[in-house]
Amino acid sequence: MTISNKQINDLPIAFFDSGVGGLTVLHHLKKMLPNENYLYFGDTVHVPYGEKSKRQLISYSENILNFFNKLGCKAVVMACNTTSSVVYEDISAKYNFKLYPIVQTAAKVLAQLNITNLGVFATKATVMSGAYEREIAKYNPKMKVFTQHCPEWVKIVENNTLNLPENIEIVKNDLELMMKNKPEKIVLGCTHYPFLKSVLSKFASVDLFIDPAVCFAQFIVSDLKENGLLNGNDSVGYEKFFVSANPEKFKDAAKLFYDIKELPHLVTF
Ligand code: DGL
Repeated sequence: MTISNKQINDLPIAFFDSGVGGLTVLHHLKKMLPNENYLYFGDTVHVPYGEKSKRQLISYSENILNFFNKLGCKAVVMACNTTSSVVYEDISAKYNFKLYPIVQTAAKVLAQLNITNLGVFATKATVMSGAYEREIAKYNPKMKVFTQHCPEWVKIVENNTLNLPENIEIVKNDLELMMKNKPEKIVLGCTHYPFLKSVLSKFASVDLFIDPAVCFAQFIVSDLKENGLLNGNDSVGYEKFFVSANPEKFKDAAKLFYDIKELPHLVTF
């Protein structure tokens, strides 16, 4: 039996991340494409990805991609800077669906900024991979890119403790360290970090920060369009959420970016 174009176009777009971070990308894509169907997997049993080895990250990513493959999807969005930086190149050729990595996509746009000094806040694994520096240098070798690891930020977001005074202090200190490099712009190079924008904006102009999810979502829209993969439905699409641990905690921490109606399904591999 052959599958028609219409059947392929009706398949969902799948997202994954270690937790709620990837919702910052889904939030933008859903606004641009409300009629698409969406799947989202938060690998909350393994969060934080930024502290994991390449071997572990490959195994987690493959399990999730195989899960999406079984469910059926037309594209998978790696809404995670860490897996985009560390595993994308190793696994991208293995799947039949489109796989969109955030770092490689955003780097093309960031490289065009008319600035010399670009700061990037990211997880330890992303910083160690050198992916931001490498990808931006492909398009703009003159731009100085300096990355900084923020060890506590993912935990703060997942635990939904953004407003605790001690956590505001942690964010302030990390920002002060970054400011020593005199960045003209700072990329929030982990999809969890846009959750902290309101805290960061207490200490610096909000215009200083770039959330790559915006240009990433724009790219996905134009690429799906170019490849004839948009669904032509008039009604609002469905969305299904999956987590590998703590569905209640996930739903609660998500609130700032996404109103999840039903409790996410718990999945273990
Ligand atoms: N949100 C992910 C990223 O963009 C992973 C963060 C983590 O779990 O360490 O890097």
